[in-house]
Amino acid sequence: MTKISPSILAADFANFGAAVELLEKAGADYVHCDVMDGVFVPNISFGMSTIAALDKRTSLPLDVHLMITDPGRYVAEFAAAGADIITVHAEACTHLHRTLQQIHACGKLAGVSLNPATPPDVLTYVMDQVDLILCMSVNPGFGGQKFIPSTLDKLRTVRAMIEQSGRDILLEVDGGVGPANYAEIVAAGANLLVAGSAVFTAPDPAKVIATMRGEICRA
Ligand code: DX5
Ligand code: ZN
Repeated sequence: MTKISPSILAADFANFGAAVELLEKAGADYVHCDVMDGVFVPNISFGMSTIAALDKRTSLPLDVHLMITDPGRYVAEFAAAGADIITVHAEACTHLHRTLQQIHACGKLAGVSLNPATPPDVLTYVMDQVDLILCMSVNPGFGGQKFIPSTLDKLRTVRAMIEQSGRDILLEVDGGVGPANYAEIVAAGANLLVAGSAVFTAPDPAKVIATMRGEICRA
Protein backbone atom coordinates (compact mmCIF):
# COMPACT_ATOMS: atom_id res chain seq x y z
CA MET A 1 0.00 0.00 0.00
CA THR A 2 1.35 3.40 -0.98
CA LYS A 3 1.55 5.96 1.82
CA ILE A 4 1.29 9.73 1.39
CA SER A 5 3.29 12.36 3.25
CA PRO A 6 2.05 15.83 2.22
CA SER A 7 4.61 18.62 2.67
CA ILE A 8 3.41 21.61 4.65
CA LEU A 9 6.03 23.67 2.82
CA ALA A 10 3.16 24.32 0.38
CA ALA A 11 0.68 25.27 3.15
CA ASP A 12 -0.07 28.69 4.63
CA PHE A 13 2.85 29.33 7.03
CA ALA A 14 0.57 31.48 9.20
CA ASN A 15 -1.83 28.58 9.64
CA PHE A 16 -0.07 25.25 10.02
CA GLY A 17 -2.69 24.18 12.57
CA ALA A 18 -5.39 24.32 9.90
CA ALA A 19 -3.07 22.55 7.44
CA VAL A 20 -2.55 19.50 9.66
CA GLU A 21 -6.24 19.40 10.48
CA LEU A 22 -6.97 19.35 6.76
CA LEU A 23 -4.43 16.56 6.24
CA GLU A 24 -5.97 14.42 8.97
CA LYS A 25 -9.40 14.78 7.41
CA ALA A 26 -8.00 14.16 3.93
CA GLY A 27 -6.48 10.81 4.93
CA ALA A 28 -2.76 11.64 4.88
CA ASP A 29 -0.45 9.03 6.44
CA TYR A 30 2.27 11.44 7.64
CA VAL A 31 3.03 15.15 7.75
CA HIS A 32 6.22 15.91 5.80
CA CYS A 33 8.14 18.74 7.47
CA ASP A 34 10.86 20.36 5.37
CA VAL A 35 13.52 21.91 7.60
CA MET A 36 15.96 24.15 5.67
CA ASP A 37 18.95 26.04 7.05
CA GLY A 38 19.91 28.39 4.21
CA VAL A 39 23.33 26.68 4.02
CA PHE A 40 22.77 23.13 2.80
CA VAL A 41 19.95 24.48 0.62
CA PRO A 42 19.38 28.04 -0.63
CA ASN A 43 16.23 28.58 1.43
CA ILE A 44 15.22 28.87 5.10
CA SER A 45 11.96 27.34 6.33
CA PHE A 46 11.36 26.45 9.98
CA GLY A 47 12.97 24.53 12.84
CA MET A 48 12.35 22.47 15.96
CA SER A 49 9.93 24.87 17.62
CA THR A 50 7.59 24.48 14.66
CA ILE A 51 7.91 20.69 14.92
CA ALA A 52 7.01 20.90 18.63
CA ALA A 53 3.98 23.07 17.84
CA LEU A 54 2.83 20.67 15.10
CA ASP A 55 3.24 17.71 17.41
CA LYS A 56 0.76 19.31 19.82
CA ARG A 57 -1.77 19.85 17.04
CA THR A 58 -1.80 16.49 15.24
CA SER A 59 -1.71 12.79 15.92
CA LEU A 60 -0.28 12.13 12.45
CA PRO A 61 3.36 11.01 12.54
CA LEU A 62 5.83 13.77 11.70
CA ASP A 63 8.15 12.88 8.82
CA VAL A 64 10.96 15.38 9.34
CA HIS A 65 13.25 16.01 6.36
CA LEU A 66 16.36 17.82 7.54
CA MET A 67 17.96 19.83 4.74
CA ILE A 68 20.63 21.16 7.06
CA THR A 69 24.41 20.95 7.27
CA ASP A 70 25.82 18.55 9.87
CA PRO A 71 22.36 17.46 11.11
CA GLY A 72 23.81 15.35 13.93
CA ARG A 73 24.09 18.59 15.93
CA TYR A 74 20.30 18.82 16.13
CA VAL A 75 19.00 15.23 16.06
CA ALA A 76 18.27 15.12 19.80
CA GLU A 77 16.39 18.41 19.66
CA PHE A 78 14.20 17.34 16.73
CA ALA A 79 13.52 14.03 18.47
CA ALA A 80 12.52 15.83 21.68
CA ALA A 81 10.31 18.17 19.64
CA GLY A 82 8.23 15.21 18.44
CA ALA A 83 9.69 14.06 15.13
CA ASP A 84 8.76 10.43 14.39
CA ILE A 85 11.02 9.94 11.38
CA ILE A 86 14.24 11.94 11.10
CA THR A 87 15.76 11.97 7.64
CA VAL A 88 19.21 13.42 7.01
CA HIS A 89 21.02 14.04 3.75
CA ALA A 90 23.97 11.76 3.02
CA GLU A 91 25.72 14.80 1.47
CA ALA A 92 25.32 16.81 4.69
CA CYS A 93 26.87 14.24 7.06
CA THR A 94 30.60 13.71 7.55
CA HIS A 95 29.77 10.68 9.71
CA LEU A 96 26.51 9.35 8.27
CA HIS A 97 26.67 6.05 10.18
CA ARG A 98 27.11 7.86 13.49
CA THR A 99 24.22 10.23 12.74
CA LEU A 100 21.91 7.28 12.03
CA GLN A 101 22.98 5.71 15.32
CA GLN A 102 22.18 8.99 17.09
CA ILE A 103 18.66 8.99 15.60
CA HIS A 104 18.07 5.42 16.79
CA ALA A 105 19.46 6.25 20.22
CA CYS A 106 16.65 8.83 20.46
CA GLY A 107 14.14 6.08 19.67
CA LYS A 108 13.21 7.46 16.25
CA LEU A 109 13.12 6.03 12.75
CA ALA A 110 16.18 6.99 10.70
CA GLY A 111 16.08 8.08 7.07
CA VAL A 112 18.78 8.90 4.53
CA SER A 113 18.05 11.30 1.69
CA LEU A 114 19.94 11.47 -1.60
CA ASN A 115 20.08 14.54 -3.85
CA PRO A 116 19.32 13.92 -7.54
CA ALA A 117 23.04 13.74 -8.42
CA THR A 118 24.03 11.44 -5.53
CA PRO A 119 24.53 7.78 -6.50
CA PRO A 120 22.86 5.13 -4.31
CA ASP A 121 26.16 3.41 -3.41
CA VAL A 122 26.53 5.72 -0.38
CA LEU A 123 23.80 3.55 1.15
CA THR A 124 25.66 0.25 0.80
CA TYR A 125 27.26 0.16 4.24
CA VAL A 126 24.36 1.73 6.13
CA MET A 127 21.55 -0.49 4.87
CA ASP A 128 21.36 -2.14 8.31
CA GLN A 129 20.92 1.29 9.92
CA VAL A 130 18.18 2.82 7.75
CA ASP A 131 14.43 2.65 8.15
CA LEU A 132 13.72 4.95 5.21
CA ILE A 133 15.49 6.01 2.02
CA LEU A 134 14.41 9.28 0.45
CA CYS A 135 15.22 9.87 -3.22
CA MET A 136 14.97 13.56 -4.04
CA SER A 137 13.30 14.03 -7.39
CA VAL A 138 14.07 17.76 -7.48
CA ASN A 139 17.04 19.70 -6.18
CA PRO A 140 16.09 20.41 -2.57
CA GLY A 141 15.20 23.89 -1.39
CA PHE A 142 11.90 24.77 -2.96
CA GLY A 143 8.46 23.35 -3.59
CA GLY A 144 6.70 23.45 -6.93
CA GLN A 145 9.57 22.17 -9.10
CA LYS A 146 9.41 19.67 -11.94
CA PHE A 147 10.07 15.96 -11.31
CA ILE A 148 13.53 14.86 -12.58
CA PRO A 149 12.98 11.72 -14.73
CA SER A 150 16.32 10.02 -13.89
CA THR A 151 14.87 9.49 -10.39
CA LEU A 152 12.92 6.53 -11.77
CA ASP A 153 16.12 4.64 -12.55
CA LYS A 154 17.51 5.42 -9.12
CA LEU A 155 14.31 4.18 -7.50
CA ARG A 156 14.61 0.84 -9.29
CA THR A 157 18.22 0.50 -8.11
CA VAL A 158 17.38 1.40 -4.52
CA ARG A 159 14.35 -0.91 -4.53
CA ALA A 160 16.65 -3.77 -5.54
CA MET A 161 19.06 -2.86 -2.72
CA ILE A 162 16.17 -2.90 -0.25
CA GLU A 163 14.96 -6.31 -1.46
CA GLN A 164 18.49 -7.65 -1.15
CA SER A 165 18.80 -6.33 2.40
CA GLY A 166 15.71 -8.28 3.42
CA ARG A 167 14.77 -5.36 5.66
CA ASP A 168 11.52 -3.43 5.79
CA ILE A 169 12.78 -0.05 4.55
CA LEU A 170 10.43 2.67 3.31
CA LEU A 171 11.29 4.12 -0.11
CA GLU A 172 10.22 7.75 -0.25
CA VAL A 173 10.20 10.16 -3.20
CA ASP A 174 10.12 13.93 -2.81
CA GLY A 175 9.63 16.69 -5.38
CA GLY A 176 7.27 17.24 -8.28
CA VAL A 177 5.09 14.26 -7.37
CA GLY A 178 1.36 14.34 -8.05
CA PRO A 179 -1.60 12.54 -9.63
CA ALA A 180 -0.07 12.90 -13.12
CA ASN A 181 3.10 10.88 -12.39
CA TYR A 182 2.61 8.92 -9.16
CA ALA A 183 1.81 5.67 -10.99
CA GLU A 184 5.21 5.35 -12.71
CA ILE A 185 6.94 6.36 -9.47
CA VAL A 186 5.16 3.60 -7.56
CA ALA A 187 5.88 1.15 -10.40
CA ALA A 188 9.60 2.01 -10.00
CA GLY A 189 9.44 0.87 -6.37
CA ALA A 190 8.48 3.83 -4.19
CA ASN A 191 5.97 3.26 -1.38
CA LEU A 192 5.95 6.66 0.34
CA LEU A 193 5.12 9.75 -1.71
CA VAL A 194 5.74 13.33 -0.64
CA ALA A 195 3.50 15.89 -2.30
CA GLY A 196 3.42 19.59 -1.47
CA SER A 197 1.84 21.69 -4.17
CA ALA A 198 -0.13 18.77 -5.63
CA VAL A 199 -2.02 18.45 -2.33
CA PHE A 200 -2.25 22.03 -1.09
CA THR A 201 -3.18 23.72 -4.39
CA ALA A 202 -5.81 21.10 -5.24
CA PRO A 203 -9.48 21.97 -4.92
CA ASP A 204 -9.98 18.58 -3.26
CA PRO A 205 -6.83 17.47 -1.35
CA ALA A 206 -8.58 14.31 -0.11
CA LYS A 207 -9.15 13.18 -3.68
CA VAL A 208 -5.48 13.76 -4.58
CA ILE A 209 -4.36 11.74 -1.55
CA ALA A 210 -6.80 8.91 -2.24
CA THR A 211 -5.73 8.81 -5.89
CA MET A 212 -2.04 8.56 -5.04
CA ARG A 213 -2.74 5.89 -2.41
CA GLY A 214 -4.28 3.87 -5.21
CA GLU A 215 -7.78 4.09 -3.76
CA ILE A 216 -9.28 5.83 -6.78
CA CYS A 217 -8.67 4.57 -10.31
CA ARG A 218 -7.56 7.18 -12.76
CA ALA A 219 -10.17 8.03 -15.39
C1 DX5 B 1 11.98 20.33 -1.51
C2 DX5 B 1 11.20 19.67 -0.40
C3 DX5 B 1 9.93 19.03 -0.83
C4 DX5 B 1 8.93 19.96 -1.44
C5 DX5 B 1 8.01 19.19 -2.32
O1 DX5 B 1 13.20 20.74 -1.02
O2 DX5 B 1 11.99 18.68 0.21
O3 DX5 B 1 9.36 18.30 0.23
O4 DX5 B 1 8.18 20.64 -0.48
O5 DX5 B 1 7.14 20.09 -2.92
P1 DX5 B 1 6.41 19.76 -4.28
O6 DX5 B 1 5.56 18.55 -4.04
O7 DX5 B 1 5.60 20.99 -4.52
O8 DX5 B 1 7.45 19.51 -5.33
ZN1 ZN C 1 11.04 17.22 1.67
